[in-house]
Amino acid sequence: MEPQAMPSTIVVLGTGGTIAGTAASPDDVVGYRAGQIGIDTLLAGVSLPSGTLVEAEQVAQIDSKDMTHAIWHTLAQRVAHHLARPEVAGIVVTHGTDTLEETAWFLQRVLQPEKPVVLTGAMRPATAREADGPQNLSDAITVAREPGLSGVFAVLAGVIHHACDVRKANPLRLDDAFDSCDAGPLGVMAGGRLRWLRVRADAAQSAVPVQVALSRPVAEWPRVEIITSHAGATGALVLALCADGVDGIVVAATGNGSVNRELQQALVAAQTQGLAVLCSPRSGFGRAHPSAIDRLPMADGLTPAKTRVELMLRLLERDGA
Ligand code: SIN
Repeated sequence: MEPQAMPSTIVVLGTGGTIAGTAASPDDVVGYRAGQIGIDTLLAGVSLPSGTLVEAEQVAQIDSKDMTHAIWHTLAQRVAHHLARPEVAGIVVTHGTDTLEETAWFLQRVLQPEKPVVLTGAMRPATAREADGPQNLSDAITVAREPGLSGVFAVLAGVIHHACDVRKANPLRLDDAFDSCDAGPLGVMAGGRLRWLRVRADAAQSAVPVQVALSRPVAEWPRVEIITSHAGATGALVLALCADGVDGIVVAATGNGSVNRELQQALVAAQTQGLAVLCSPRSGFGRAHPSAIDRLPMADGLTPAKTRVELMLRLLERDGA
């Protein structure tokens, strides 16, 4: 039997908003008219992820303050129609930012889609000198292509929010216009790719529980300590902990996971003696993006304290029951 091709078509449904807005001057980012430019024209100015087929459909052309239940009804029907097509990977809806959160929740509650439905918009009109719409639209298409993703999302300013959490939080600013309140955003776009900040529900379900932690007495659990990289750091703590029989060290690293030179030398030397090492940014807010020059492994989006638990569990798993 022929292997089934991955669906690669994204359907972009236009509804208007500032992303499709025009002003008399490229410097005017306040006195413009929303919902003026057609979705085909908007897409013409967007760079698409390679291998993506895009279809466009104009569902409405409004300022989203004027969103109606009738448009919602039509929009939900069009989304459902396209989602049912096997070649469609996901849907993008371009939308005014003023009521985007309402439409997102409506679509989530009405459709509970099993493929991604991604709403996006812009804070500056399409005619602005530095319009944010094209990048937002490109990012939304990338997210809509994400395999295995299901539900309704909003993507703006390089940030991915779930329909459940997203809200408009600032009337003018570009980067802070949307947030996910205490839940926090789901992910960010980095280097044209989607990076998850929160564990996705489906990933959480497929994670294998570390059952050995239940069967092994806690006195036998690996010992993992945390040390911090800072100005004037040395390898003294690494030597002391190794002498004390520690199994792993978590490093609360500076910046994007960098480690003081002397401290790193001691850690690399200890690794060759069997010490397990895992780094995590000490800033505690935001996620590190490891690079090829990093010599020490980086935990994926965990605080140093949670990284300590993670390393301990990894060592328990490695050593078995
Ligand atoms: C609208 O919501 O349609 C206008 C405002 C915006 O998109 O930012």
